[in-house]
Amino acid sequence: MNLDVLLGLQWGDEGKGKIVDFLAPKYQLVARFQGGPNAGHTLEFDGIKHVLHQIPSGIFHEGIQNVIGNGVVIDPVVFMKEIEALKPYGVPYHKNLFISKKAHLILPTHRLLDAASEAAKGKEKIGSTLRGIGPAYMDKTGRNGLRIGDILSPDFKKRYQKLVDKHKGLLEFYRYEYDLNESEPAFFEAIEQLKELRLADTEYMLSEALQQGKRVLAEGAQGTLLDIEFGSYPYVTSSHTTTAGACIGLGVAPKAVHEVLGIFKAYCTRVGSGPFPTELNDETGEAIRRAGHEFGSTTGRSRRCGWLDLPALRYACMLNGVTQLFMMKADVLSGFDEIKVCTHYKLSDGTITRQMPYCLLNEPVEPVYETLPGWSGNIEASTAYEDLPRNLRHYVNFIEEYLHLPIALVSIGPDRAQTILRKNVFSM
Ligand code: GDP
Ligand code: IMO
Ligand code: MG
Repeated sequence: MNLDVLLGLQWGDEGKGKIVDFLAPKYQLVARFQGGPNAGHTLEFDGIKHVLHQIPSGIFHEGIQNVIGNGVVIDPVVFMKEIEALKPYGVPYHKNLFISKKAHLILPTHRLLDAASEAAKGKEKIGSTLRGIGPAYMDKTGRNGLRIGDILSPDFKKRYQKLVDKHKGLLEFYRYEYDLNESEPAFFEAIEQLKELRLADTEYMLSEALQQGKRVLAEGAQGTLLDIEFGSYPYVTSSHTTTAGACIGLGVAPKAVHEVLGIFKAYCTRVGSGPFPTELNDETGEAIRRAGHEFGSTTGRSRRCGWLDLPALRYACMLNGVTQLFMMKADVLSGFDEIKVCTHYKLSDGTITRQMPYCLLNEPVEPVYETLPGWSGNIEASTAYEDLPRNLRHYVNFIEEYLHLPIALVSIGPDRAQTILRKNVFSM
């Protein structure tokens, strides 16, 4: 079967959007499997930058079907804004965009609850994007949620009101002041617009596509270290960001999975709170942030930066069954005399390990670094892997040997064209 899964191996923002857009022509279908408007996936081509939140990153390619799977939580208002942003480019979204009827809805009160919960946590806040993600998934697993298919039901408003009344009780508990006067009409307007789009039983669509031998690319959001099961809990998102999540979030069997394409930045970033072993709170961290324009695509928040964390990457490759690695933002490290890579963690009792401890909060680790020679010069116009600086290629080899996996693609700039595919290891 031909389902390839592309997902982030760090704390999100690895460059998933850029690569899904780059690879999309090799596929007939692109399907987002989890997350919601907390994601911000940036695509750049023809001198224009697009940021997608819920719409799959294959949307700009003609002849490709784009599916929003059941695992996604959808904010109709954000969604219709995304549709508006597509209109100037003549994207035939009426024809090539399909939304699972089983995807859950984010209500205006979910956003309020997100804000109320974060405010109540004070210094221990998650650093959520405040898009209502946690509360929407809580209603899903609590078996209270509303789904896209429900908007077609005649008693939708009644069911909406029942859930909102419950939320109002919770907001009272939080003593959170709010005003729904603007957000509620906007929500219902967006719901009416959603009804015009293709709402489908996408699990059947995907199954049929795979049966017919079509190639499907599953697009993840966030990253493995933000996964609800295996991330740095509780500083995580509320969905399954791993390969298993692609099966759950699309309704495809595990045996359909072929390649698992794991994306990582040549360094690390994290936005929001939570442990980050290789974080650099110094001039080097600042230099990486400046060079990489490390500010969030969804919230504009400044991203925390640090060196590459190989034990964390190894953990992510293990959990996902990664078959090929894609290294992003290699250009950003150009100009550093030396590059450090964390190869092991030192625990408080002095033990040196490559294993991720149960909880980085209770068991803080000290990164053990290996220092590699840096490279310099503008590499953004390179077109062949062999033309890249020797020390960058050495860096690539070092990571490959550590992880026992091939780095099949190196990205050297935000544009679609600034992508070097190493054909020798790319089997597609
Ligand atoms: P995603 O959430 O994984 O899709 O990643 P984001 O779009 O949130 O963040 C990645 C950022 O890096 C975006 O601004 C991209 O345009 C940019 N980007 C992607 N690949 C590269 C690259 O190789 N080099 C540079 N300099 N920027 C890149
Ligand atoms: P993409 O798909 C980076 C982070 C938030 C916060 C935590 C929980 O663009 O890579 P949530 O809003 O989900 O309750 O926030 O997760 N976060 C992301 N960080 N990229 C993302 O998505 C993220 N989505 C959520 O900053 O720390
Ligand atoms: Mg992002």
